[in-house]
Amino acid sequence: MGRFSEPLAVQFAELADVRAGQRVLDVGCGPGALTAQLVERLGSGAVSAIDPSASFVAAIMARFPDVDVQRGVAERLPFADGTFDAALAQLVVHFMTDPVTGLAEMARVTRPGGLVAACVWDHAGGTGPLTAFWQAVHDLDPGARDEAGLAGARQGHLADWCATAGLQHVEAGSLTVEVRFATFTDWWEPFTLGVGPAGAYVSRLDQAHRDALRIRCAQLLPLAPFHLFASAWSVRAYV
Ligand SMILES: C[S@@+](CC[C@H](N)C(=O)[O-])C[C@H]1O[C@@H](n2cnc3c(N)ncnc32)[C@H](O)[C@@H]1O
Repeated sequence: MGRFSEPLAVQFAELADVRAGQRVLDVGCGPGALTAQLVERLGSGAVSAIDPSASFVAAIMARFPDVDVQRGVAERLPFADGTFDAALAQLVVHFMTDPVTGLAEMARVTRPGGLVAACVWDHAGGTGPLTAFWQAVHDLDPGARDEAGLAGARQGHLADWCATAGLQHVEAGSLTVEVRFATFTDWWEPFTLGVGPAGAYVSRLDQAHRDALRIRCAQLLPLAPFHLFASAWSVRAYV
């Protein structure tokens, strides 16, 4: 998903109007697509990052030794009130156990007048980066559970939660990225790594079903090289 999340991070940082001189928190930093974009714009010393995964935290520490990286969840942020000018969560809210508490915590650690922003792929509306994958899955296994039901994956969810979390001037929108794949294998290979709900689905298949899914995906996608568009719902709101 890094192929999609890296260009998304550029647009998301633009949306949040991240500028030199600010101090910004990256919530659910994962392997660092957004962290890298924040470091480029602000410098390492102005970026804090947090994620519950020990391996992601270790990877960010190795990649950005001067970034303040912590292990933890959005729902309980280990920072004082008003520490940051902005708190951002890229592709994270749909994984939170309690999105409203997570967004309220992001608001708490952001200064009055500061910005909270989030984005989540449009898994429910058919324009997400995994749309072709889940379509192929459903063609072969109609009962399979996809990611459409994940929190925030539908238009309006993020904005509703921001309002419930007590944020002001909530602005909903969407961001679209375009990614080029040189070969079908480039596109398929990440699904075989067991990462996320899609990877977990593939890892549960025996070889014959895995081959059938790969062939169905290849039928649904354009001939390589091809470009795919993917959209994410976005929100920005003020403390
Ligand atoms: C799809 S990844 C996104 C990573 C990164 N923000 C990016 O755009 O590449 C989702 C991340 O959310 C993290 N996560 C899951 N639950 C979380 C929670 N409750 N609070 C903060 N992060 C969480 C996961 O560990 C994972 O790194």
